[in-house]
Amino acid sequence: MKPTCPAHDEATRRSAGAARPRRTFADLPGPRGLPVIGNLHELHADRWHLEFERWWRAFGDVFVVRMGRQPILVVAEGELVRDVLQRRPAVFRRTRAIEDVSREADMVGLFSADGEAWRKQRQLINPTLHARHVEGFFPSICEITGRLRDLWSRAADERAARDVLGDLMRYSVDVTSTIAFGRDLNTLRGGPDALQEHLQRVFLGLNRRILAPLPYWRYLGLPADRAYDRALLAVKRLILELVAAARRELEGGAGGVDRPARPRTLLDLMIVARDGENPRAHLSDAEVYANVLTMLLAGEDTTANTLAWILYYLGSRPDVQARAREEADRVLGGGLIPTLEQSKRLEYTGAVTQETLRLRSAAPLLYLEANHDTVVGDVAVPAGAGVVVLTRATGRKPEYFGDPESFRPERWLGGAPPTLPHEPRMALAFGSGPRVCPGRSLALLECAVTVGMVLRSFTVQLADHTAPVRERMAFAMQPEGLRIRFTKRACA
Ligand code: HEM
Repeated sequence: MKPTCPAHDEATRRSAGAARPRRTFADLPGPRGLPVIGNLHELHADRWHLEFERWWRAFGDVFVVRMGRQPILVVAEGELVRDVLQRRPAVFRRTRAIEDVSREADMVGLFSADGEAWRKQRQLINPTLHARHVEGFFPSICEITGRLRDLWSRAADERAARDVLGDLMRYSVDVTSTIAFGRDLNTLRGGPDALQEHLQRVFLGLNRRILAPLPYWRYLGLPADRAYDRALLAVKRLILELVAAARRELEGGAGGVDRPARPRTLLDLMIVARDGENPRAHLSDAEVYANVLTMLLAGEDTTANTLAWILYYLGSRPDVQARAREEADRVLGGGLIPTLEQSKRLEYTGAVTQETLRLRSAAPLLYLEANHDTVVGDVAVPAGAGVVVLTRATGRKPEYFGDPESFRPERWLGGAPPTLPHEPRMALAFGSGPRVCPGRSLALLECAVTVGMVLRSFTVQLADHTAPVRERMAFAMQPEGLRIRFTKRACA
């Protein structure tokens, strides 16, 4: 019989009493902070997620921090985190800064939209990322994975250690641009591409503005912001041209009235998307543009960072690598890159990916805001208050995952001892509730194909076991200082 989880029971009791708040923010623990700036000075530019998690260990599952004068509720208890994420879009929304900054860039897509605008987009866009479409993208993923293999084969020949995060960023740019709008930027072979450089500038600029305490760019024309504006204009022009061309083909213009083309990319699928319940609902060109950019933004760094962390674990845990390699040899036979059917049978590799996501989630926390007065557990939350949910901390709680700090892939295969708690619904790397990541299947497929290829072709070692690999928060959480040495296997 499954052991009952005391934290779960406690949270259920608290949620049941949710209508009767007993505490306000003033009653909650939290770091003391300074007058006016609160705790802002403690948030290190690229490691602030670690500060939140340090506070969590010091103050427990529900506490308050101050961003300037604004108190923000921070929650790490699993049931409460899930409850907050579930009560979207009605009660909670993503922090308003995301929508405001995206609106200025004319790119309010699925990630940044809220309320009814989000609901309409989600209805139309979610199906474009369903497994059957994602599987249609499989040949492109394999081709680009083959390029990554060539690159790392050359590195193995030259006995050169690789900055794998840089390689994987280029890999995911190539995959995502091919899938999103049918243009293979081929940055793995050709090096930086003009469009890729523009995209990078746009993404960095968006990130900078979302995190800025004040909207300084509305009053100052700093060089970085002018470069951002130019890059945004170039990207917008190109994507709108692609939207217009795709519309002509799909709606029977250039493709011929009698024989309109079949949708091949996410952009095509968005153009033809219709809502079964409301067939007149469709996406405008502006919405398609916003969502093509959103897919590029949401799909690139997250997947690349996850793959880089997987290589980190394979390199630092020879026992895990040996077991994963044995599985890849057995499932792939003589093949070097998994077929679609084989990628689904790489169970241990899948468990390595799940365990990596639990410990090294690319998005360790999510920023939300209360739409109106509400209650979280027994805490009264006023309208407009910020709420940060520590999704990674939830996956590191011993009540949900026994021996939580250890990397144990077998826990995902029913191999954990019965005394070790295992609550997969508390692994929240892809979020939870109505806004859970719609790109999950695509990301997991990319991971299976890439890791399968690596295991069949190379052995993987950390280039320097003594050099620390640290967590760095850029757009998503990434390994800093990770260098990998590839050695070709005899079968490769
Ligand atoms: C390992 C890779 C990935 C991770 C860890 C990840 C993680 C996340 C997380 C944590 C969220 C927020 C969920 C929430 O609010 O509950 C999210 C949302 C989203 N992700 Fe992903 N993601 C990944 C890959 C992708 C890919 C490949 C795509 C598409 C190409 C994608 C598209 C999106 C979109 C559009 C949203 C917004 C959904 C909404 O608000 O309705 N993601 N992702």
